[in-house]
Amino acid sequence: MEKVDLKNIYLKFFEERGHKIIPSAPVIPENDPTCLFNTAGMQPLVPYLKGEPHPEGTRLTDVQKCFRTNDLDEVGDKTHHTFFEMLGNWSLGDYFKKESITWSFELLTKYLKIPVEKLSVTCFAGDEDCARDEVTASCWKKAGIPEERIYYFGKDDNWWIAGETGPCGPDTEIFYWRSNEEVPSDFDPENDNWVEIWNNVFMQYNHKPDGTFEPLKNKNVDTGMGVERVVAVLEGQTDNYKSSIWTDLIKKIEEVSGKNYDDEKYTRSMRIIADHIRAIVILSGDDAGIKPSNTDQGYILRRLIRRMIRYAKKLDIDINSNWEQELA
Ligand code: SER
Repeated sequence: MEKVDLKNIYLKFFEERGHKIIPSAPVIPENDPTCLFNTAGMQPLVPYLKGEPHPEGTRLTDVQKCFRTNDLDEVGDKTHHTFFEMLGNWSLGDYFKKESITWSFELLTKYLKIPVEKLSVTCFAGDEDCARDEVTASCWKKAGIPEERIYYFGKDDNWWIAGETGPCGPDTEIFYWRSNEEVPSDFDPENDNWVEIWNNVFMQYNHKPDGTFEPLKNKNVDTGMGVERVVAVLEGQTDNYKSSIWTDLIKKIEEVSGKNYDDEKYTRSMRIIADHIRAIVILSGDDAGIKPSNTDQGYILRRLIRRMIRYAKKLDIDINSNWEQELA
């Protein structure tokens, strides 16, 4: 398996196109007491998406530490993680749909060498709040995506907002056919082999608490690409935990448990332990100084530790040994 240095390829690509590389914000939001965690790359950038000038300019790129606890019960499958990293590039009132889509296509097909036949894209179908996004669809067509692989969906699928209120807009999602089976002629969002690899959001509204959409000062672009998922895709793996990001950790779990990852009886437990120990380390190491407790982030930390221990017991790991330090 060839290791793919996705983060560097991505950041360099956008740096060459005028973007400033900015560091990841901590995983615990610094100025937003309403959120426990940064859940997407755009979250620390909300004030700038709303129009405040960013000190580094109007084109930014980064890899942001993200934490999501809304699908904790799904962690243990091939693709969900509590902690993950998100690559992104932003235009703060600078370029818009054409550049964003042209560059996404170029990076995916030329730099990351993904065959265009394995891609499908979706665009916003339009409703009373915002028009059908034919501009985006036509940009995809010009870039090289065949018309029969361009689909339209409504707000449930092709609209992005973090939470209930704030900057939002129509998005276009890029899907990759992650299977050795032949690519079907139709894109089917229900088919798990189609995995979303990148999301470009055209943030141009502020969703207000009264439910209305007010135009933002600027038309912005916010994109997000999950590192763990895309590295797995590029390394030809259908299970994220088989990619180079996770192999050392899984090997260590095999060592401390004396069990085999490929033994179906143990795979799920090993994935949960791998996911949770990584999340625990990141959370404990955050500048905010989180300790296990019964409130807020401390409660999440405690839950993750308890859940990890429960699964360690399933693997007959001696929980009085130094197993968790070795994994950390
Ligand atoms: N905010 C969007 C997402 O999280 C794009 O960055 O997918």
